[in-house]
Amino acid sequence: MAFTGKIGVLTGGGDCPGLNAAIRAVVRSGIAHGYEVIGIRDGWQGLIANDIFPLSDHLVSGIISWGGTILGTSRTDPVKNPDDIAALKRALDEQGIGALVVIGGNGTLSAAKEVAEKGVHLVGIPKTIDNDVFGTDVTIGFDTAVAIATEAIDRLHTTAESHHRIMILEVMGRRSGRLALAAGMAGGADQILVPEIQVRMDEVCSSLEARSRAGKKFSIVVVAEGTRHEDIAGTVVPACDRDECGHEKFVGIGNFLGKELERRLSIETRVTVLGHVQRGGSPTAHDRILATRLGIAAVEQIHTGSFGCMVGMQEGRIVQVPLESVAGRSQGVDPKVYEEAMNVAGITEHK
Ligand code: F6P
Repeated sequence: MAFTGKIGVLTGGGDCPGLNAAIRAVVRSGIAHGYEVIGIRDGWQGLIANDIFPLSDHLVSGIISWGGTILGTSRTDPVKNPDDIAALKRALDEQGIGALVVIGGNGTLSAAKEVAEKGVHLVGIPKTIDNDVFGTDVTIGFDTAVAIATEAIDRLHTTAESHHRIMILEVMGRRSGRLALAAGMAGGADQILVPEIQVRMDEVCSSLEARSRAGKKFSIVVVAEGTRHEDIAGTVVPACDRDECGHEKFVGIGNFLGKELERRLSIETRVTVLGHVQRGGSPTAHDRILATRLGIAAVEQIHTGSFGCMVGMQEGRIVQVPLESVAGRSQGVDPKVYEEAMNVAGITEHK
């Protein structure tokens, strides 16, 4: 059954490069199918507040290369308050929006599953620089964040070598190490520390000492923000702060590691926390293409009357994944890929 009505589109959670490419594809594909496409400001918060505006071909012209999201975003979770669900359903009825495209990460897509179960027709698109959404091999924003972090590692190499230092780069990813592993592998890091794989401080020190004995007077260490202090050094540290939505706010693993390594190895060490730089700026070509294809696929799902799923990418093919199998799950590093990266990292002592 073909869908009739207007299509609404919202972006929720942390922003990332590629969101505007997805919005552009949803608008152009929607218009091509004869639908009106409505922009919803600031994620679920805007829908609850009925804060919408019509999108047009003109409004999305040229935004494929823009970072961020022209709609704005928020971390509002409508599931936490039944009044919010009622409000967003009222807004959809008042605006004549018959189906939603929800572009988000784990939090936004988990909420989308609940909203769909309340009778709202919707399709999800996975985005996050963390690349930790279950059901898709890759999320919008990941490739760009890897490129940004890799360039940072390349730049840290030159200053590390000049000063004979250990340089530590802390990257984002929440409790997933996929961003750290990809950038660490691409940047040729000598050590990559991720939440999923426990590496003790003694192992880190001995590998860096081996490098030093082999004549390499500098090292690059990439650490994922969600790597647990206690996993590395066995020290229990205060629980993370939490943001306004209860998400963990990671602080300090990079600086903790820097102090520990400098103390144990007596090698000058400096720390760079890449932070929100990883989420800014223009998307790579890969992210523009991925976002465009997923935006088109989401509209196709709506056009054929197929709702309650997320469109994703698996082994290079676009797939539809039921949101109930995505919600509440996430995915981390592949231990085999981690082993590959560490097998060619650094220089082990010549036997
Ligand atoms: O989920 C994406 C992400 O960038 C995480 O990697 C990071 O921990 C978090 O968002 C930061 O959230 P905020 O932008 O709200 O500080």
